[in-house]
Amino acid sequence: MQVLTNNQSLQDALNTFRNEGKTIGFVPTMGALHEGHLTLIVEALQENDIVVCSIFVNPTQFNDPEDLKKYPRPIERDMQMLKSVGCQILFLPEVSEIYPSDLPEVNFDLYGLDLPMEGAKRPGHFKGVVQVVHRLLEIVKPDSLYMGQKDFQQYSIIALMLRQMKSKIRLVRVPIVREDDGLAMSSRNVRLSPEGRAKAPIIHKVLKEVEYYVESQPFPDSKKAKELALELLKKYGIDNIDYFEIVDGHTLQVLQSFDASNFAVACTVVVIDGVRLLDNIILFERN
Ligand code: PAF
Repeated sequence: MQVLTNNQSLQDALNTFRNEGKTIGFVPTMGALHEGHLTLIVEALQENDIVVCSIFVNPTQFNDPEDLKKYPRPIERDMQMLKSVGCQILFLPEVSEIYPSDLPEVNFDLYGLDLPMEGAKRPGHFKGVVQVVHRLLEIVKPDSLYMGQKDFQQYSIIALMLRQMKSKIRLVRVPIVREDDGLAMSSRNVRLSPEGRAKAPIIHKVLKEVEYYVESQPFPDSKKAKELALELLKKYGIDNIDYFEIVDGHTLQVLQSFDASNFAVACTVVVIDGVRLLDNIILFERN
C-alpha cells in the first residue's frame, strides 16, 4: 500500500493509473477504522482497479474543539487493516494540504437537509462534511465514491452536493454492517457496558418491526409506524430516545404519509450508557 501525504504525489500516482485506463474508487474516512469501513473498501475494490482511502480528521465538522482533540488516531492499526484487505493507496494529508489559506470557499444550498436529526444536535457539522468531501473529490477525482448507509443523513447530503455539482462521480451507498445480533457496527460500541451491549440490538429489532408493519399492512400509516417504534423501544427498556423519524430519503423531510414518497427511511438515535447509537432502515425505495 502506498501512503501519500501530499496532493501532488497523490495526483501524480493517480494520473499514471488513469492513463493506463484504470478506474479509481474512493473511500473517505476519519480513521479509527472498523469492519464497517473495511466493507466500503472491499466493495470499492470489487468495482474498481485502484482504491484510495483517505484518513483525515476534518476540523471543520467538529462543533466542540475538545471532541476534535480527543478523536482517536490509531494510525498504525488503521494501516494494518487497510493492508489486510488490499487497499492500494492511503491518502494521509495534513490540514494545510486540505485547507490551504487561498482555498476558495464552497457554498452549496443544502435545502435544509443539514438541519434535522444529526444536524439539530450538531449545528454546522454537515457544512464541514460537505466542505471536506468536496475538497477531497477535487483532489482525488475518483470514478466512484463509497459512503455507508449508516450515516444516512450524511449520504443524502453528499448525494445532493453531487447533483448540484452535476458531477459524473458515481455515489455508492454501502449497506450497514451489523454484528451477528443486529447491532450496527460502530467504534462507539466498545463504550457500552455488558448490560448496555446486551440491550443495544433492540434498536435493529425495532427497525425490523417497523419494516414488517409497513410491508404487511395494506395502508400503512407513517405516524402509526413511528408510534409503534417508540412504544416498542420503551417496552424493551430503551427510554433515552434522541429521535426516531420516518423521512423521505431524498429530502429528509418527515413523512406525513407513505403515499407522499417513493423512498422512505426510518432513522433513529438512542442513547445507552451515555453512548449515542445511530441506526436506520430503508423501508422502501421505488423507481
Ligand atoms: O463519515 C466520516 O467519517 C466523515 O464524516 C467523512 C465523510 C470522512 C468526512 O470527514
